[in-house]
Amino acid sequence: MADTRENFGSRFAAIAALAGSAIGLGNIWRFPYMVGENGGAAFILIYIAASLLLSVPIFFAEFIIGRRSGANCFGAMSRLAPGSKWNLLGILCILTPTLILSYYAVVGGWSISYLLKSFTLAFPSFGSFSSSGWAVAAFVIYLAISCLIVAGGVKKGIETFSKVSIPLLFILIVGLAIYSVTLKGGSEGIDYMLKPDWGKVSARTFVNAIGQSFYSISLGMGIIITYASYISKKENIVFSGVGTAGFDLFFAVLAGFVIMPAVFAAGIEPGSGPGLIFDTLPYIFVSMSEASPVLATVVAAAFFLTVTIAALTSSVSLVEVPVAWLIEEKKMKRGSATLLVFAVTGIIGAMCALNLGIFDWLDKLCCNILLPIGGILCVIFVGWVMKKDDVRDEFTSGGSGSARLFDFSYFLLKYLAPVAVAVIFLSNFF
Ligand code: PHE
Repeated sequence: MADTRENFGSRFAAIAALAGSAIGLGNIWRFPYMVGENGGAAFILIYIAASLLLSVPIFFAEFIIGRRSGANCFGAMSRLAPGSKWNLLGILCILTPTLILSYYAVVGGWSISYLLKSFTLAFPSFGSFSSSGWAVAAFVIYLAISCLIVAGGVKKGIETFSKVSIPLLFILIVGLAIYSVTLKGGSEGIDYMLKPDWGKVSARTFVNAIGQSFYSISLGMGIIITYASYISKKENIVFSGVGTAGFDLFFAVLAGFVIMPAVFAAGIEPGSGPGLIFDTLPYIFVSMSEASPVLATVVAAAFFLTVTIAALTSSVSLVEVPVAWLIEEKKMKRGSATLLVFAVTGIIGAMCALNLGIFDWLDKLCCNILLPIGGILCVIFVGWVMKKDDVRDEFTSGGSGSARLFDFSYFLLKYLAPVAVAVIFLSNFF
């Protein structure tokens, strides 16, 4: 099978796909507010430490599973640990992204709708929009676009889309940030976000930083396993991990530079989540239009285009996980596999779109329970079950990479990561 499998064509393609999965709604609607509420620059330092010491080693573990096996999540576990209970980890890594996709695509649908509405600046109230039939229709369209990209294949679909989207996302977000920080009164937003305040740092801050970085880099759900299985054996794993985390953080900070100055310039309390993007910001765009309707339209459209593309590169990675499994384990054609994933997530997602209670419940189930379990099992597998020599061989690409970095990362993923993720997991219940 290995010879018929597609691979990403270059280092840039691989990093664009990985960063595409990482950069998503979490960077836009959660990170900026979390920074502001948790001590500004102090939080960012903690976040960087949490990423380098925890999330990146977990990324390494998933990467090693994927690239070593050269298979989808389920195939990976059955190759690396044949006939063992570790198959269950494979199943979990297919179930979780399927569930996440179902509700993530609902938000994707909202973003597309708001993108279209930006052209007339006729934004509905979010409460009435999100419970309307339009929200369901937009969800189906958004999901169909995500699936069509994946149906195009690893190279022609995912790779091509990521290589265009990632540069475009950075151009858009930098442009929006420049505009936003120059708004009158905008510097207060930067202060709110960045001013270091160690007094706000508590144990909870660390839990928040670790949780956010874990989710933001798309860990614990088989995405890194699946994408790494398409990455060349020669590719440097440290570059992939640190590069993904770095792009992800850079984008998240820029998103803060877009959102917070605009919010403060308008004299509104900052916030996070759907309310920030679909209530607060539309309100700001509409009030901007009193001065210049054209500028307001351009800014609003650029903003919702950014949200839509950021969400799409993430949902594409979610679609690919079950699709890769169906192709390799169930011997389906890529087209029919994608269609099946579209049908299943279409049904679950439509329920979420119609009932936000189900949406919230699924979100909590996935983020608080399934993702941490997936992450812990991956690091335990690589740190305690796989042979250290195999892990080293994969980490150093057959000996060419740094042995010192390996020793350090191996220590982190073997001892620190399982304990830290377990603590985060348990903290959900207290
Ligand atoms: N990392 C994405 C974000 O920050 C979230 C995501 C979750 C992406 C799950 C893919 C899968 O929004």
